[in-house]
Amino acid sequence: MDKLIIRGGAPLRGQVEAGGAKNAALPAMVASLLTGESIRLHRVPQLGDVRTIVGLLNHLGVSVEGRGRETISLRADHIGQFEAPYQLVKTMRASVLVLGPLLARFGRARVSLPGGCAIGTRPINLHLAALEKMGATVSLDAGYVEAKAPRLKGARITFDGQTVTGTENLMMAATLADGVTVLENAACEPEVADLAALLNRMGARIEGAGTPTISIEGVNHLHGAEHEVIPDRVETGTFMVAAAITGGDVTINRCLPCHLEAITEKLRETGVLVEETDSSIRVWGDERVQGVNIRTQPYPGFATDMQAQIMALMSIAQGSSVITETVFENRFMHVNELLRMGADIKVIGTTAFVHGVPMLSGAPVMATDLRASASLVLAGLAAQGITTVSRVYHLDRGYESIEQKLLGLGASIERVTE
Ligand code: UD1
Repeated sequence: MDKLIIRGGAPLRGQVEAGGAKNAALPAMVASLLTGESIRLHRVPQLGDVRTIVGLLNHLGVSVEGRGRETISLRADHIGQFEAPYQLVKTMRASVLVLGPLLARFGRARVSLPGGCAIGTRPINLHLAALEKMGATVSLDAGYVEAKAPRLKGARITFDGQTVTGTENLMMAATLADGVTVLENAACEPEVADLAALLNRMGARIEGAGTPTISIEGVNHLHGAEHEVIPDRVETGTFMVAAAITGGDVTINRCLPCHLEAITEKLRETGVLVEETDSSIRVWGDERVQGVNIRTQPYPGFATDMQAQIMALMSIAQGSSVITETVFENRFMHVNELLRMGADIKVIGTTAFVHGVPMLSGAPVMATDLRASASLVLAGLAAQGITTVSRVYHLDRGYESIEQKLLGLGASIERVTE
C-alpha cells in the first residue's frame, strides 16, 4: 500500500492543468452500453475509478481500447452478461449506473446493492422507484436488484430527492424507452449535462439537462459518437484550496470556472484573491484566511465533494467557521485526523464547528474516503513538519497524478510503497 510523505510549509506556485472529470467520465463510459457502435471518449482521466468501470464493462462484454490513455474507444456489440457483481459495486458505487442502460437496451439487469459505504448508507431507492414508474419489474434477490422490462415506457417522474447518478441512470434508460419521459427535481450538476450532450450525439433527444426538469423523447436505437469529457471541477477546486492553504499563487488551466462559482465565492470571502478567464482560474494571497460558514448543497450550491478540503483550510483560518453537511449524513471522517494535526473542531450531528488555529503540525494520518484523503494532503501541505498520509488508494480513485501535479507546483511530496 502506498503512502504520501509531505513536508509542509512551502507556498505552492505555478501552473497546473485540470484533468477530465471523474464523475463525467464514468457515466459517459457506461453510456456505451446503449449502442453496439463505437463510442470514442477524449480526456478520460487515468484513475482508480476509471479502471474499476473498465473492469465492470469488460465483465459485461464491452471491448475497451486505449486503456491507460486519455482517449478510449468502447464498443458494446457483444454483451454476454447482465450482472454487476458485488465485488465491483462494493468498491465503487457508481457501478449502479449500468442498471438503466442494460435494462433499456437488453430488457434486463442484475446489479448488486451497494450497501453501506464510508460516507453514509447511500441507497438507490430513488433509481429503483423511477425505473418501476417506467414499467420495470424490480425484485431483490440475495443482495442483488433484478430489473426486467420488455421495453421501458416513457413516464413523468418526480424525484423525491435530488440524486446525481439516479438522474443519470434514468436519463440513459429513457433514451431508448417508448415515448417521452420527464424527470422533475432532477440533479443539475454539470456532469449530468455533459452526459446528455454525449447521449444527444449518440442520437438521443434530451432537453433541459442541467436544469431540474429534463425531457427525453425515446428513440429506437442510438449510434456511435465522439465526445470530450468536461474538466474536473472537484480537482480544480482542490488545487484552488491548495493555493489558499499554503499562501501561494496557483493558476489552474483548462478548467471551467463557470462550474466553480460557489467555491470561488467562498474562497473570495476568506480573503484570497481569485481571478478567472473562460478556461483558467488563478488563486493567490499570503495573508491568513478568514473563517467563513459553509453549507453543502446540490449544484449550483457548495459541493459536498469540496467540504473536506475547505474544512482543512478553515482549520487554520482566523476566527471560526460553521460547516454544515446536508447531502450525506456521515461525511466528517477527516475531522479526527485533522484533530491529530492540531485542528480545533467539534462535530454536532451534521455540523462541524471549526475554530481556526494559527498552525497545524504534521502527523501520520489516514483517511477512509477520497475527498477526506484530499483534505489531509492539503492539511499536510500547510502543516509544520512531516505528514504521512496512508491508504493513498482512496486518493488514486479520483485524483490523476496528484503528487506529480503538486510537485510541479513546488510541494515537497513523495510517494513510498510500504
Ligand atoms: C454523486 C457523485 C458524488 C457526489 C454526490 C453528491 C458520481 C459518480 N458521484 O454521487 O461524487 O458526492 O453525487 O453530489 O457522480 N439518495 C437516496 N436514494 C437514492 C439516491 C440517493 O436517498 O436512490 C441520497 C443519498 O444517500 C445522498 C443524496 O441522496 O444523501 C445524494 O446522493 P446522490 O446524488 O445520489 O449521490 P451519488 O449520485 O451517489
